[in-house]
Amino acid sequence: MKTIIFATGNQDKVKEIREILGDLPVTFMTMREAGFTEEIEENGTTFRENAAIKAEAVAAWIRRNAPAYAEAIVMADDSGLQIDAMGGMPGVMSHRWLGDRTYPQAMMDIIEELKDVAEEQRGARFVCSIAACVPGRETITVQETVEGRVAHEIRGTEGFGYDPFFYVPEYGCTTAEMSREQKNAISHRGKAIRAMRDRLLEEGVL
Ligand code: IMP
Repeated sequence: MKTIIFATGNQDKVKEIREILGDLPVTFMTMREAGFTEEIEENGTTFRENAAIKAEAVAAWIRRNAPAYAEAIVMADDSGLQIDAMGGMPGVMSHRWLGDRTYPQAMMDIIEELKDVAEEQRGARFVCSIAACVPGRETITVQETVEGRVAHEIRGTEGFGYDPFFYVPEYGCTTAEMSREQKNAISHRGKAIRAMRDRLLEEGVL
């Protein structure tokens, strides 16, 4: 049975990935469960680069320090929000860009900044890249998005981060007003995990 080690400390992500890959014959563990506790500097300029930096850093450590997992697949993700009217910001800086502010404060600041921006120019997308390090192969990456708009007000209590102002026109609500299942079905992360699952199956890794 193959082992997949997730290079994240975020339990929500682990849960989501487990749910989507759960039917495969694999054992899951987090990087901490495998013994990795170091900080990784995410200094890439794209989501793909950052996902690969994280997966490769953990994979290199595992191969050196945890030989029991030498054959494991190491996976990492990187995600964020791009707002067209802000030139794609906050992008890979989505979390750091908050500074001292809470998410509601940062979203209110953006809503204020975009108050005169017309509906058709309020486009935004969540992006998620996932990288997988498989022993003996080049790092595999996939990237998916979900398109939406910056809403005029904050709505909904589900999800996290920028969900309450990310309006999805086809559904007439923000991603914070969707159930977990609904969001997983259309989200950048849900789509990226399914794309990675397909790639690993196609390439005969799983
Ligand atoms: P990371 O992928 O853990 O580096 O997270 C990047 C940041 O992007 C998060 O801290 C959030 O600010 C934002 N983000 C990524 N995905 C979502 C989402 O599904 N909803 C809301 N915010 C998100």
